[in-house]
Amino acid sequence: MVCGMRILAIETSCDESAIAIAEFSGTRKHPHILVRANIVSSQVALHAKFGGVVPNLAKREHQKNLVPILLKALKESRLSEAKIKKQELRTAKPLDSKFLILDSILEREPELLKRYKKHIAPLQKPNIDAIAVTYGPGLAPSLWVGVNFARALSYIWGIPLIPTNHMAGHLYSALLQQNRVKSTKHEARNSKQKLKFKIQNDFGFPALALLVSGGHTELVLMRGYGKYKIIGETLDDAAGEAFDKVARLLGLGYPGGPEISALAEKCQVSSSKFQVVLPRPMLNSKDYNFSFSGLKTAVLYLLRDHPKLLRSKIGKAAVAKEFQNAVVDVLVAKTIRAAKEYKVKTILLGGGVAANHPLRKKLQDAARENLFHVSCFIPHASLTGDNALMIALAAFFEKKKICVNYTQLSAEARACLG
Ligand code: KG4
Ligand code: ZN
Repeated sequence: MVCGMRILAIETSCDESAIAIAEFSGTRKHPHILVRANIVSSQVALHAKFGGVVPNLAKREHQKNLVPILLKALKESRLSEAKIKKQELRTAKPLDSKFLILDSILEREPELLKRYKKHIAPLQKPNIDAIAVTYGPGLAPSLWVGVNFARALSYIWGIPLIPTNHMAGHLYSALLQQNRVKSTKHEARNSKQKLKFKIQNDFGFPALALLVSGGHTELVLMRGYGKYKIIGETLDDAAGEAFDKVARLLGLGYPGGPEISALAEKCQVSSSKFQVVLPRPMLNSKDYNFSFSGLKTAVLYLLRDHPKLLRSKIGKAAVAKEFQNAVVDVLVAKTIRAAKEYKVKTILLGGGVAANHPLRKKLQDAARENLFHVSCFIPHASLTGDNALMIALAAFFEKKKICVNYTQLSAEARACLG
């Protein structure tokens, strides 16, 4: 199957507003990607003050961010001449039926509607074949902004939509590897050295994906493109959520994952006077499920019983390191065991927690040591957090799910893979 397709992707499932434009060619077995734009506008600093994501604040920020990001992405992509149809704009009467429908699509996003009418409606349709958008899982107020924005673009430009699962995006993100092509003179001069990516094509089925984010921890068996079976998941807190909660117990900032990691690096076990031991929950359970809430409670009791730990940086670092090791040990052991049982050819890692260095290294090392002939793909550091490039990629691989009509699309906060 030969395909060539330009996808504009939109991701707003949590607290990152992101838009990417990517051009795909070749076959699914031998795909090529040209990333024309990949923009992420993070709201993390805003939510950090509240110690976590505030859904209505996230919704407001997505409404503010999406139009400027789209304009920037279109400019960078050079796919759109972005000509303003002044003539049409002047003749567009307030009761023009197109504008009435646009009003109804974006009626719950008045701020976005205002910006859309001013900056996007006057643009000519760009040279895009499909609009991929994250429809779930995620925070409902955040998801709806992206979904309605995509519906509005689809309606006005007459371009089909590809509803894309956020976790599928994380899953495929591991297949994008940095292409070490030299930047052009023009890029170097403007210090615009954009990362260039290529898609791994020695990717074989069955594959096993370990997806670890703020809301999910899943082991997904993949027997083909879009053929997913969740063989294990967390019974309570997700891995990222556990990092965030333990960071709070240690008086660290949000998001907790990077804070815990940075602190853990400071702890040399041999030189630390604090020898901390935490449990490895469900390490030996026969299934592939996880549980991290007990581990968080173990940290809580440890700090309550040994208040000295909180009084020194090295004490906190010892707890951070042991907690991180406990999470990583369980994630890696279960992934390797499942990979053996299901005789997989590929292991993929994805999600925000995939930024964690010990997890990346231990999973690679364990796969190399225990599983010959299994390729283990770890996402580029810039693609572990939420981004729209992964949504474009998942849409490309799952393109049979195209839905043509904007009325057929809605957000699903609890969407499952498959
Ligand atoms: O995928 P993601 O960006 O958003 C969701 O879809 O949830 O994941 C965010 C999660 C947060 O819980 C954050 O603490 C965690 O990823 N995270 C990390 C690291 N960087 C981000 N966890 C452990 N180590 C890290 N370096
Ligand atoms: Zn995510």
